Amino acid sequence: MKLFGGKKDLIGLDIGSNSVKIVQISHTRKGLQLKNLGITGLAHGCISDGSIQDPDTTLEGVRNLLDHLKIRVKYVATSLSGHAVIIKKASLPSMPQEELEKNVIFEAEPYIPFDIEDVNIDFHIIGPDERDPDKMEVLLIAAKRDAVDQYANIVEATGLTPIIMDVECLALANAYETNYPPEEEGSLVLVDIGAEKMTINVIKEEIPIFVKEVPLGGYQITQQIQSAYSMEYQEAENLKIGGTTDQAQLKKLEEILVSITPTWADEIKQVVDLISTTRPKDVVKKIVLSGGSSRIRGLDKLINMKTNVPVEILNPFSNIHYDEKVFDREYVEYMGPQVAICVGLALRSMDEK
Ligand SMILES: Nc1ncnc2c1ncn2[C@@H]1O[C@H](COP(=O)(O)OP(=O)(O)OP(=O)(O)O)[C@@H](O)[C@H]1O
Ligand SMILES: [Mg+2]
Repeated sequence: MKLFGGKKDLIGLDIGSNSVKIVQISHTRKGLQLKNLGITGLAHGCISDGSIQDPDTTLEGVRNLLDHLKIRVKYVATSLSGHAVIIKKASLPSMPQEELEKNVIFEAEPYIPFDIEDVNIDFHIIGPDERDPDKMEVLLIAAKRDAVDQYANIVEATGLTPIIMDVECLALANAYETNYPPEEEGSLVLVDIGAEKMTINVIKEEIPIFVKEVPLGGYQITQQIQSAYSMEYQEAENLKIGGTTDQAQLKKLEEILVSITPTWADEIKQVVDLISTTRPKDVVKKIVLSGGSSRIRGLDKLINMKTNVPVEILNPFSNIHYDEKVFDREYVEYMGPQVAICVGLALRSMDEK
């Protein structure tokens, strides 16, 4: 299995800490076509920090979703995140892509804080290093082999074959690029806010130039609801997502949101500010949100107010057709931001010719 490969007829599988998502997209004469889409909740604690804590329950969740969606394809593209992945920008001697492919282990070694034998490495050449004419900036991506194996084992246990192990931030960039025209100037920030983490990804000319993952997300809110009302996890999730007509609860929910979401906006602002001071030519022109927690009402406005940058919610299906007799438009539009990474994974089948 390669870190990045490609094969037709695969599904994207995103195993998140809150939910498992599956997306299948095929390339037809009429363009990209959605074939399958589904999501199922995962018990809290199955996944933590990019590692599978409870393989049996996780496997059961994936299996149930595969059965429910009647998935018939054999191949799977899935992704890693959290401590399983190290993403570092490096300044390496200038060389063509093919040469770096041969030498990447040697060149990457000083930048990777693990035994180089324990990781799979991939890279993206960003461009010349402006501080040194003999060097180029490269984004190094290292995935820990034991995490790769953990995810591969889950997929194999379902009877399917894992052929692509991507990283979430690149899958997200892929979903964006398929659906939106390239930015003419400056850079773009893709932010995925899930349950236990948020990924902040700065893209310039379709290449990630900066990536940061922070352990913040919707679970913080759920946790506060749980402790305010001594509720179980699922009950608190239902209250958060389904809302309530109880005025006292509404006020409490609002208080919790106001105590948490500004810290998310601050994380994004830090990255926007960092880009404008370190790479003034690449100043951030747009912020695009995805992940289940991007649905929080008013979050886009809050981030816009803090950063002064236009904010929108990612629609990963804007260039992907679907049969409205099979998929309800409202459902697909509602699910879009939450399955963005999974769409990026599902699209990997089209990458390689
Ligand atoms: N309408 C909504 N309002 C508020 N929060 C929501 C809404 N819908 C989903 N969420 C929250 O989004 C989170 C789930 O999002 P997502 O599926 O992107 O996370 P995940 O991929 O499972 O987690 P992670 O990537 O952090 O491991 C949960 O915290 C959930 O409560
Ligand atoms: Mg996620």
